[in-house]
Amino acid sequence: MKFATTRLAAAVGVSLTLGLASLTAHAAPMIIKFSHVVAEATPKGQGALKFKELAEAALPGQVEVQVFSNSQLFGDGKEMEAVLLGDVQFIAPSLAKFDRYTKKVQIFDLPFLFDDMAALDRFQASPAGQSLLDSMKSKGIQGLAYWHNGLKQMSTNQDKLTRPEDVKGLKFRIQSSDVLEAQFRQLGANPQKLAFAEVYQALQTGVVDGAENPWSNIYSQKFHEVQKTIAVTNHGALDYMVVTNSAWWDGLPDDIRDGLQKAMAGATEHANKLAAEINDRDRKRIAEAGKAKIQTLTKEDIAAWRTAMHPVWEKFQDGIGKDLIDAAVASNQPS
Ligand code: LMR
Repeated sequence: MKFATTRLAAAVGVSLTLGLASLTAHAAPMIIKFSHVVAEATPKGQGALKFKELAEAALPGQVEVQVFSNSQLFGDGKEMEAVLLGDVQFIAPSLAKFDRYTKKVQIFDLPFLFDDMAALDRFQASPAGQSLLDSMKSKGIQGLAYWHNGLKQMSTNQDKLTRPEDVKGLKFRIQSSDVLEAQFRQLGANPQKLAFAEVYQALQTGVVDGAENPWSNIYSQKFHEVQKTIAVTNHGALDYMVVTNSAWWDGLPDDIRDGLQKAMAGATEHANKLAAEINDRDRKRIAEAGKAKIQTLTKEDIAAWRTAMHPVWEKFQDGIGKDLIDAAVASNQPS
């Protein structure tokens, strides 16, 4: 009897083990959600799709990446919370949207800090820039990569937009950034924080008079159809940090995390290579559409904008750290 029981227990054990093995072999892939607020035909939209392609190729049958564009899953204001709750695994908010989690990332919103995208790229790649990816760890957020979009252009529903005094008294939609709020107040304008998904309607109905965004966002959201003038100010950068929930990330099996990390590196390279091309293309498309006038500015005009906005730096210097600002300024010189 004892023998029979032992044999039975062994048989059950073997079949259980086999059952588990086949369950593992056919386990459903881990669903990984990547949510963002822009159109697919933008640098971020393309980066997210590339990440899906590379992650699923690196981890076949193990992961399925679902990409949600255009705020269809979570919009501004909700997406960070969703990451912290584990409702979505990756998001890539603009660097202007981390105010509540770290003051250091505010550096990217300082007007006229970077001469061009190459300088911004150098700063992001530097030890100072890379250290910011870890600056929200204590809040449960891990930065994984920077993705480029481009330099911002100022737009309004007015005919004249060449000098800072032209925006006095106008209402501007801004991203949820205290630096950008201060920037427009410095110009004598009235900033209003609004989610990206609400901008078109706000411009169309006159809730706000103007906005600032790179060409790719202006074109893909049709802002040029509800603005009269877009001035080529290049007064600040709009880039992204791809972030995830640090506890989720640290808890992943090593092979999955490695695969995702490699896919992220590939997607970053892809998005950053495409960013300039997409913005140039969309600037041309806006010009061809003939709706908003594209106003180019003289060196003197740009100098006037720079001078008018500069006091903002000092207001945020303590929170950001002077060392960090100096490192960013130094990145304007190619080494
Ligand atoms: C905006 O809100 O204007 C941008 O941050 C949108 C984006 O993600 O590019």
